[in-house]
Amino acid sequence: MALFITFEGGEGSGKTAQARALHRKLARLNIPVVLLHEPGGTSLGRRIARWLKWVQDAEMSPLSELLLFNASRAQLVAEVIRPNLVNGKVVICDRYTDSTIVYQGYGRGLDMELVRATNGAATGGLVPDLTVLLDVPVEEGFARKCVKARDRFEQEDIAFHQRVGEGYLKLAQAEPERWLVIDGCQSRARIAQIIWGRVSQLLGGVGVGGA
Ligand SMILES: Nc1ncnc2c1ncn2[C@@H]1O[C@H](COP(=O)(O)OP(=O)(O)OP(=O)(O)O)[C@@H](O)[C@H]1O
Ligand SMILES: [Mg+2]
Repeated sequence: MALFITFEGGEGSGKTAQARALHRKLARLNIPVVLLHEPGGTSLGRRIARWLKWVQDAEMSPLSELLLFNASRAQLVAEVIRPNLVNGKVVICDRYTDSTIVYQGYGRGLDMELVRATNGAATGGLVPDLTVLLDVPVEEGFARKCVKARDRFEQEDIAFHQRVGEGYLKLAQAEPERWLVIDGCQSRARIAQIIWGRVSQLLGGVGVGGA
């Protein structure tokens, strides 16, 4: 059954860990599933992602950043997400349009209408069925990450990341039926259980009760 699930949250909030756990769970149940992440997921997207994260020798304007994220996204939606949904698969995406609203909108201060319009153009209006928000204090998220080199976003100050975190909560409050907000400070296993509770419901009760 086609289902589009996205994972959102600040740096080190556990998105990748939980997206992978859900992917494993569905694969074990023989439910057709693909796991993707943004920016990237296509050959063009991976090249754009390198610019977005690692360009150090040039200033990137917030508008360029917005357009590059959405260039990567447009390619991913057209090349991978839509075809897989049409084929009835579950598509899991580690970050999607909401990341752009909070990082480029709340974080960088770009006009929200512009951000939303650009997201809409890139996706053709494709909205997730479920968005999981892993809510973790900024300091906790950074403490978890042990990266050798910090990318352009990880280098931003704490105020930037606070705006991102607050932005996420506002989005979730505005659309409670789409968002599942989880306290990301709980154990990995507990979080996975909460996510599975919702996903299995959306899939019509498959594997409910099974570990
Ligand atoms: N519930 C949890 N409790 C404690 N540590 C966790 C939990 N979930 C994930 N971690 C650990 O925190 C670190 C960051 O997790 P992960 O990479 O999944 O986060 P992320 O949101 O994908 O981060 P990024 O913003 O870098 O993409 C990893 O070392 C991971 O093992
Ligand atoms: Mg990650």
